[in-house]
Amino acid sequence: MNMINGLSVRTFGKPENQPILFLHGFPLDSTMWDRQFPDLAGDFYCVAPDFRGLGESVISHGSDTMESFVDDMVDVVKYLRLKNPVLCGLSMGGYVALRMAERNDIPLKALILCDTRANADTDEIKLKRTTAIKRIKSEGAEDYIREFVQGIFYESFVDDLGPQFNDLVRNWVKNQPEGVIGALQAMLTRTDTTGFLKQCTLPVLYICGAFDPVTPPAVMKEMMRITPGSEYFEVKEASHMAPLENYQDFNKKVIDFLSRI
Ligand code: MLT
Repeated sequence: MNMINGLSVRTFGKPENQPILFLHGFPLDSTMWDRQFPDLAGDFYCVAPDFRGLGESVISHGSDTMESFVDDMVDVVKYLRLKNPVLCGLSMGGYVALRMAERNDIPLKALILCDTRANADTDEIKLKRTTAIKRIKSEGAEDYIREFVQGIFYESFVDDLGPQFNDLVRNWVKNQPEGVIGALQAMLTRTDTTGFLKQCTLPVLYICGAFDPVTPPAVMKEMMRITPGSEYFEVKEASHMAPLENYQDFNKKVIDFLSRI
């Protein structure tokens, strides 16, 4: 594990291979991608940072914005000298990937956007996030994270795991209140990247769980429709966490896409 400017960054595979920067969802950490590395690290250099304030990265002091999350990822790419990385982001990680591609600070090879959306928060969602910030300030983050993660997995995945589900979420529920609040603020301050999609010239693969209630297939199919030359893949038996819930189909599709670009 590397510490880069206060960020924990795990790497798998050989640095000379095509890099993929894996950007995790909220309020998780990079371990959500652990089912990708065994299949991908043979041919790709897999780089998995924890966003500031989450996982093993240093605690932020609640002043994060989407721009500061993107700045952090640009720094990671520069520090590790990643050449034309593929960005693979899920949900919040997808917001970061989209803005990073729109800013165009560094050349990219392709985007893999999983269970995410391009539009900014509606007023309703903004108010929901500010209520969450208030709650976390008064009672800490653990119960909030537990409830949140319960809602993002496919029911039968949770049932099948049984008591092991607690092992899966063990690290995530330890995320510190300041870091979770920082990530909520980052999502709140993100801009709409729909306009960028319409002119995007990168190869883009959209992946969505068939039963994702947070960023449903209809939302992602619309993103595909407006992005020139992009493709869409729906993961069966998956909700918002397709890379974990049905990692076999997910990994197969990613490898297939990367072999063609
Ligand atoms: C995520 O999975 O990262 C979150 O659901 C994104 C969000 O709350 O907008």
